[in-house]
Amino acid sequence: MHYDKLIINIGQLILPQAASTPLKGEAMKQLNVKEDAAIAIQDGKVAWIGSNTEKDSVKADEVIDARGRLVSPGLVDPHTHLVHGGSREKEMSLKQQGVPYLDILKNGGGILATVEATRSASEDELYQKASSHLERMVSHGVTTLEGKSGYGLDTETELKQLRVMKLLKETYPINLVSTFLGPHAVPPFFKGNETAFLDSMILLLDTIKEQQLADYTDIFCEEGVFTIEQARRFMKESRDRGFGVKIHADEIVPLGGTELAVEMEAISADHLVAASNEGIQQLSESDTVAVLLPGTTFYLGKDEYARAREMIEQGAAVALATDFNPGSNVTENLQLIMSFAALKLKMSPEEIWNAVTINAAHAIGKAQEAGTLQEGDEADLVIWEAPNYHYIPYHYGVNHTHIVMKSGQILWE
Ligand code: NIG
Ligand code: FE
Repeated sequence: MHYDKLIINIGQLILPQAASTPLKGEAMKQLNVKEDAAIAIQDGKVAWIGSNTEKDSVKADEVIDARGRLVSPGLVDPHTHLVHGGSREKEMSLKQQGVPYLDILKNGGGILATVEATRSASEDELYQKASSHLERMVSHGVTTLEGKSGYGLDTETELKQLRVMKLLKETYPINLVSTFLGPHAVPPFFKGNETAFLDSMILLLDTIKEQQLADYTDIFCEEGVFTIEQARRFMKESRDRGFGVKIHADEIVPLGGTELAVEMEAISADHLVAASNEGIQQLSESDTVAVLLPGTTFYLGKDEYARAREMIEQGAAVALATDFNPGSNVTENLQLIMSFAALKLKMSPEEIWNAVTINAAHAIGKAQEAGTLQEGDEADLVIWEAPNYHYIPYHYGVNHTHIVMKSGQILWE
């Protein structure tokens, strides 16, 4: 056979197990790794996966010698706040003085500060800024990612953010999933009249659907933000209009958002630092993916991390994400999150790789297109400057990508 491209001398090739549901329990603990492998690519797709010893019988226009490096599917970041205006470096000193995250928000800072910056930015400015963040994500190995709105809190700006996501989708050759997070905070004008604000966000759902501006909706269910009842209502209204649902659940105060996610058959429940035992139990009996964001816990300066071990042992499907945003986790580097998952969540390297590939793809409904490498799949892959898969979480804080490929094309090297 003659192919477009052939990658030879792959030391280890990570091939996460593809299935119609996310990996749980024993399946989540096991990682399929092929030693001494080679891959052929034709028309942007994986055409052949074999042993490196067979390489001489395979011909290609271009041969890439991996020289014993690690190769994995392109990483999937299933929770980011990619499109936003401004930055909040001045909050760092408030944090150092011990002012809690929710207090900064209560006093008009935090999310609300970014809302002002996002409202006053033009669509083009937002696009330029998001592009640079996105390119940095890609350079760190990500070829599929989700991005949320939620820094508009009004019709005009929420739609503006979602249009920027759509334009990014059209201009960048990567998989992008859009989420409408209108109920991300209560704007000052609506303080004390949260129901009216939620009504206005529910009213927006039809426009978003008509213009196909989002695949999922999300809500920040948290003390002082939105209650369980409000979240339930928003999720129901979203589902009635054909959206998949997500929820920022039990991040700081255990309100029962995890249980609500299961009740609403959410595709993912995210954060879960304060999830209850009952919540974890219910999660493990569902297909809702627990998207854990240890970078956020670290960045907020907290000591208590999500109980990943209990979740995995009880059979919940776990994924990892950056939560990249200008306040609670300011990094595009998913490799760093893999290190936090090892150090703080006590996840094994096998679990971590499943959590940033196939399970992350499941968390955004992209498991058909991303998260693994099988013959016939898009050739979205990373050649890592690393000898084995244990190495990435181990050597932390730097970028280990050698080549990042989407559909057989080199995006970054
Ligand atoms: O997922 N928790 C709520 N929302 C974001 C933070 C947004 C911000 O601080 O700007 C999060 O952590
Ligand atoms: Fe978030």
